[in-house]
Amino acid sequence: MESMTLAPRSRKESMTEMTEYVLPQHANALGNVFGGQIMAWVDLCAAITAQRHAGLMSVTAFVDDLMFENPVKVGEVVHLSAQLTATFRTSMEVEVTVTGEDLRTRRRWPCLHAYLSFVCIDEEGKPTPVPPLLIDSPEVEASQALGLERRAHRLLKNARQK
Ligand SMILES: CC(C)(COP(=O)(O)OP(=O)(O)OC[C@H]1O[C@@H](n2cnc3c(N)ncnc32)[C@H](O)[C@@H]1OP(=O)(O)O)[C@@H](O)C(=O)NCCC(=O)NCCS
Repeated sequence: MESMTLAPRSRKESMTEMTEYVLPQHANALGNVFGGQIMAWVDLCAAITAQRHAGLMSVTAFVDDLMFENPVKVGEVVHLSAQLTATFRTSMEVEVTVTGEDLRTRRRWPCLHAYLSFVCIDEEGKPTPVPPLLIDSPEVEASQALGLERRAHRLLKNARQK
């Protein structure tokens, strides 16, 4: 099955929102959420988006550099928002934005921003074409172009590391 035959799907169809309440088991001795816990939520939120878009199992192939901007503490809330930014042949890029929230004051702050690459997998576990991202606005068109640029850097970096 070639990607040419797959109908494009809009970004809106696969957008995913997650909300997590930070409990003591999510936190380190300082009471801040573990970086690894945030990464697990990011991967989950992005995976739901990728699989919603593809309609098939998709595996995480690559996570771009991560910078934790601000901590989130026990008793606060973590919001995750994921959207598809670009599709390629069998792979796609998902952007996840993470914010913290203090429920008492309703203050929100940036926590993390990440790009993850997923590969769509068929029933035999082989990469298979993904439906293209529907280009239905100048914003999505720019997103697809920027995704292609990031992909080129990513694959170059990976090739150097091999
Ligand atoms: C991801 C994986 C399926 C790619 O397999 P592969 O044999 O390298 O496949 P291919 O060379 O045919 O590449 C398939 C696609 O993956 C992309 N890809 C492969 N490695 C990549 C990487 N490190 N970063 C970004 N994209 C990558 C390729 O660019 C290609 O995309 P395209 O078709 O859109 O151009 C394989 O490496 C794998 O199974 N990795 C483990 C995944 C995993 O266990 N994740 C965690 C649990 S979900």
